[in-house]
Amino acid sequence: MADRLNGKIAIVTGAGAGMGNATTLEYLKENCKVVAMDNKADRLDALTKEVAGLDLSANLVTFTGDVTSNADCDKAVETAVEAFGSLNVLSHFAGVMDYFSTADELADEDWDFVIANNLTGSMKISRSCLKYFLPNEIIASIILVTSNGAVQGSTSGVAYIASKGGTESLAQCMAFEYGRSGIRVNTIQPGPYATSICLDPAWGPKAMVNKGAAIHRGSGYNKSSRDWILAGEWVTERFVAADPKHIAGGAVYLASDESAFMNAGTLRIDGGICLG
Ligand SMILES: NC(=O)c1ccc[n+]([C@@H]2O[C@H](COP(=O)([O-])OP(=O)(O)OC[C@H]3O[C@@H](n4cnc5c(N)ncnc54)[C@H](O)[C@@H]3O)[C@@H](O)[C@H]2O)c1
Repeated sequence: MADRLNGKIAIVTGAGAGMGNATTLEYLKENCKVVAMDNKADRLDALTKEVAGLDLSANLVTFTGDVTSNADCDKAVETAVEAFGSLNVLSHFAGVMDYFSTADELADEDWDFVIANNLTGSMKISRSCLKYFLPNEIIASIILVTSNGAVQGSTSGVAYIASKGGTESLAQCMAFEYGRSGIRVNTIQPGPYATSICLDPAWGPKAMVNKGAAIHRGSGYNKSSRDWILAGEWVTERFVAADPKHIAGGAVYLASDESAFMNAGTLRIDGGICLG
């Protein structure tokens, strides 16, 4: 076991799949204690089994909860304190995609769902942690996960992109406000990764597989994100395939004291898709 996160106690949201799952595993390998939160219990069960197979169960507690619920967010913090005695890292990966609607065809319920989960959820889980960090004078790191689209835009998926742009602003405000208290707030901006958020067939006819989004039109790549993901165009002689482990490495850095002088910053981990 490595030791980069010795002394760190983290809540990782969205821990049941994709990047949150990969980050949970890396955190445990780096000797972090982790409360793994997800709103899908079966995914946390699978994580528990995987962690047992790695002989890392002693530092893992799972919590089935929803980041849109104030009670669940508060309960996640209580779970960490009860299980591990404190909390000093929030690594917030839970998120949902929209249906790649353009603004003119966007349904109110789709907008409300995505904003509630991605933007309001980011605020709620951060607020619950801050209510513990501040009175207890905890030196802490908050990591929010947005998207390269938050700063580059997209031709569709406006609810998702707006939710991630709002989360960038939320992170900036919290970084300014709480940096003086020793609480750093940074973001990770992934590009397209072939995780369940992009490939879930449960989306049905409104799913991304039916409608790609041309993103980053100024870039040399000039491809839709759907093409990038589904055609496997990442995997060539020159390009490395996007893998959640590439995000997990950034999340370890931001949680660790190696990034102690980084506040209000961003790690963009997108294979260069944002090159303009
Ligand atoms: N995959 C990509 O291409 C991509 C690109 C840019 C940004 N992101 C962002 O990265 C983060 C992680 O995405 P991923 O690709 O690992 O997705 P994923 O779908 O594989 O994992 C997300 C997890 O979050 C959980 N979740 C969703 N809503 C929740 C809620 N309200 N409360 C608790 N848990 C909830 C899901 O059950 C799932 O297990 C998300 O915020 C996503 O928006 C992903």
